[in-house]
Amino acid sequence: MKGLILAGGLATRLRPLTWVTNKHLLPIYDKPMIYYPLESLAKAGIKEILISSSPDHAGQFESLLKNGEEFEVKLDYSVQENPKGGIANAISLAEKFSNGEKIAVILGDNIFNYDLKPTADKFNKKDRGAIIFGIKMPEMESKHYGVIEIDPHGKVISIEEKPENPKSNIAQTGVYFYDNRVFDFIRQQKPSGRGELEVTDLNNFYLKEGTLECDLLDWWIDAGTSHDELLRANNLVAEKVRLGQF
Ligand code: DAU
Repeated sequence: MKGLILAGGLATRLRPLTWVTNKHLLPIYDKPMIYYPLESLAKAGIKEILISSSPDHAGQFESLLKNGEEFEVKLDYSVQENPKGGIANAISLAEKFSNGEKIAVILGDNIFNYDLKPTADKFNKKDRGAIIFGIKMPEMESKHYGVIEIDPHGKVISIEEKPENPKSNIAQTGVYFYDNRVFDFIRQQKPSGRGELEVTDLNNFYLKEGTLECDLLDWWIDAGTSHDELLRANNLVAEKVRLGQF
């Protein structure tokens, strides 16, 4: 399985920090934000990783991360011309890179310390399907994210993007494993109300055919949503490092 980190978008919610600097290069405690998803994929045993970024910042990632040797992976870089095309649009650009293999996608502003390796090993043995990762959170917050409804046996019943009335307290994180049919599904997608090819619509293709699974992360933070969340991510990571939990 190959890896893909999405570091595009415009990060308008973090201005003025992001007028010049790409959000995923901002510091989280002692490292740039992009290190966290990169280390998560490397720890999962993924050896070839593509970093997708917006036209203005692509070169900065390469200056920082080079060929990936420091992380014991091989890095490639690509540019998403329309930085607000949507997460599924950014994934579609990795078709050639994936070269027929499965692909593990992580949003570049997602920070967690869950070991993805057992799930990646399990997924590698499967013929087809997708795995998404959820996180339990207070009911009121989940409406800022995709919301995953799960039955008592752990089967996904529905996923809705930022619903007014969330059907559960499980938010969809930015970690997704897909088989190589993902690119065919994206070709069938239409832009949403906000003009993006949505990852939730993509995941619903797998849900409909009954090949979608969901694992739960223990803790997770989406550092890119606001200045407060960025600060919270810094404090949380600092605390976990001090406690030896990260
Ligand atoms: O973080 C988890 C959430 O991410 C999920 O719960 C939602 O279901 C999912 O739609 C997404 O929500 P957001 O609307 O908050 O995503 P955002 O626009 O903040 O983009 C997330 C990351 O993806 C960000 O680090 C930049 C990258 N990105 C985003 C877009 C729209 C790209 O690389 N290209 C893009 O076109």
